[in-house]
Amino acid sequence: MDYRRLGRTGLEVSVLGLGSGGASQLGQRYHLTPAESAHVVRRALELGVTFFDTAPGYGRTEALLGQALADVPRSAYVLSTKFHPFAEDASVRTAGQLRRSLEHSLRALRTDHVDVYFLHGVPPERYRAVCDRLLPELRAARGAGLIRHIGITERYQTDHAHVALLRAIEDGAFDVVMVGMNLLSPAAALEVLPRAAARGVGVVVMCAVRSVLTDPAAVRRFVRGWVADGLLRPGLVPEDAPLDWVVDGDARTISDAAYKFAAAQPGVGTVLTGTGNVAHLEANVRAIVGPPLPAATVRRVLDVFGPVQRNVQPARAG
Ligand SMILES: NC(=O)c1ccc[n+]([C@@H]2O[C@H](COP(=O)([O-])OP(=O)(O)OC[C@H]3O[C@@H](n4cnc5c(N)ncnc54)[C@H](OP(=O)(O)O)[C@@H]3O)[C@@H](O)[C@H]2O)c1
Repeated sequence: MDYRRLGRTGLEVSVLGLGSGGASQLGQRYHLTPAESAHVVRRALELGVTFFDTAPGYGRTEALLGQALADVPRSAYVLSTKFHPFAEDASVRTAGQLRRSLEHSLRALRTDHVDVYFLHGVPPERYRAVCDRLLPELRAARGAGLIRHIGITERYQTDHAHVALLRAIEDGAFDVVMVGMNLLSPAAALEVLPRAAARGVGVVVMCAVRSVLTDPAAVRRFVRGWVADGLLRPGLVPEDAPLDWVVDGDARTISDAAYKFAAAQPGVGTVLTGTGNVAHLEANVRAIVGPPLPAATVRRVLDVFGPVQRNVQPARAG
């Protein structure tokens, strides 16, 4: 495994991190037993993974992680979880609710602190209201030692231009951002990463594969849609196999290429893989620590899909 510094946090993190959300939720979405999910976490540790991401909204994964990591020294791994800042009526939740949610997360995770505590899925138009209400409480929690660093994740489904994270990076209030970036939606590499690097903000990549990239029909559907909508010039990629050209050499599959691509972008600390499948986890580790994608492939991805600025979404995700 390779390890990197997560921006100005000073945290050392494995270049591949284990995510607990998305279409897998450590396999909970396809009914793995808790023991089977714990096996994925333990295998990740064996493979050198030290970054684990979860959220109260990801089913029972906080408790699953807490259980799987219970006998592992706390200094051996870096843990992030989140606070969803909106109530059911879409109002911004209160500071008291944040503190109670954090305390609940700490109990579930069986720890006295999380390393990065993210505001979860903040859309640009609510960014200011969320910060005004919740940043003082986040700073208080950091002062009390319950969290080490403050982070923010974007509303991946709709914030195609990463507006919320660009504001967060400029503001200086956040130590870490979690950004969506993949072969079909690589725009963050052009806009977000250079600015994060300039400000010392740590970057966690989510949705590097997003199950869409492992589904050839979904890839074709997105690409044909973008051509039809005038977002992508016809003929730039073959519409019947729009990404097959990334599979080359050490990148045996599109998902291999996807994790390699995300990890290769300057400024990235860790790339999350959201899997409940040990064979997939092993393949993803192999890919990310193996030789990088050829520079010409990376350039073509950025040139072709960078200007499209559309995030890809599977039918079922979180
Ligand atoms: N706004 C937010 O805060 C937000 C939003 C989305 C995600 N996240 C975080 O980011 C993490 C990563 O995003 P993601 O879950 O979308 O992860 P991802 O790694 O981009 O995609 C995971 C999907 O790809 C499949 N997969 C993984 N490796 C594979 C392989 N080698 N071959 C075939 N299929 C493979 C997984 O299925 P299997 O289980 O079968 O492997 C799962 O369906 C999440 O888990 C979550 O922690 C945060």
